[in-house]
Amino acid sequence: MILPFSMARKKSAQVFLDMTDSELKNVPIDYYSLKLTSKQFEKISRLVYQISGIDLHEGKEELVKARLLKRLRHLRIADFENYLKYVENDQSKAEIRTMVDVLTTNKTHFFREPEHLDFLRDVIIPGLPKGPVRIWSAGCSSGEEPYSIAIVLQEILPQAARYEVKILATDLSDRMMEKARQGIYDEETLKTLPRQLTLKYFRRVDFKTGHDHGRRYRVIPELQSMVSFAKLNLMNEWPMRGLFDAIFCRNVMIYFDKPTQEKLVSRFWSYLREGGYLMVGHSESLTFLSHNYRYLQPAVYRKVNPQAVVRAKPVLHRGK
Ligand SMILES: C[S@@+](CC[C@H](N)C(=O)[O-])C[C@H]1O[C@@H](n2cnc3c(N)ncnc32)[C@H](O)[C@@H]1O
Repeated sequence: MILPFSMARKKSAQVFLDMTDSELKNVPIDYYSLKLTSKQFEKISRLVYQISGIDLHEGKEELVKARLLKRLRHLRIADFENYLKYVENDQSKAEIRTMVDVLTTNKTHFFREPEHLDFLRDVIIPGLPKGPVRIWSAGCSSGEEPYSIAIVLQEILPQAARYEVKILATDLSDRMMEKARQGIYDEETLKTLPRQLTLKYFRRVDFKTGHDHGRRYRVIPELQSMVSFAKLNLMNEWPMRGLFDAIFCRNVMIYFDKPTQEKLVSRFWSYLREGGYLMVGHSESLTFLSHNYRYLQPAVYRKVNPQAVVRAKPVLHRGK
């Protein structure tokens, strides 16, 4: 079935959804001439904010349009008006989740902001009380962050996988969770890792994907077993039990507005043990947020209960 573009625009989203894949392929729609009106942009921003806390403020229109065009093309929906109707009428809420997912920014790499990993190796781990080590990578994207943490732990605690070292890695994005769980990366992605670590922690897997015979590498099972992946929207309930020694939430809060950031760091507080650490991205200082953490160094904060410090003073004074 071939529809001229003008006709395609008039058809409701449902019509396209009722078509078979091969029928859909023949629907000519000129996606690049589609307009995203400011009203439509506002509606999308509102929906995304309600679900994910992501603040798609003014200036993000082109990004939203470019990313959602792919979605419209995939669904063969003729314009944004129909797409929004489709999102709103979808009782399963699957499309709104997909919409949020495609609008997330997932840029990451191995050993990103390595000062945090040095701090983990040199300060956090040596200072830990005996017992299991628990670390949370919140907003882990495609897994490079938690696997980098696992490599550091494995390097300093060579039998980390056998000890009780647990890294929880969570993200809102289904696409990213899938990638992270697979733990398969191409050569380009592994370039930020020192060569000897690639050789030690990755094994080559040959994939023949279409015409491309690119080299890919899979994280070794020993490293993978240290990380548990779970889909988690930071705006929703957190089902985890127990406290963490450190939470890495880096380059995630930058997408949230100030009230959302404040709420989030205060929720992290109750998931950290006393003396636990919060790492944020280097462009995400807590300086302008109200919080109780002690600042240690750029983008590193510590949970030190201020009441404990206040109580300690008179006792010292009396003892003199
Ligand atoms: C730029 S990546 C950061 C990845 C990694 N932490 C790093 O620093 O390299 C941001 C990640 O935050 C996730 N994210 C955004 N909003 C979220 C939310 N409400 N709940 C959970 N994850 C979220 C995105 O899906 C994305 O993968």
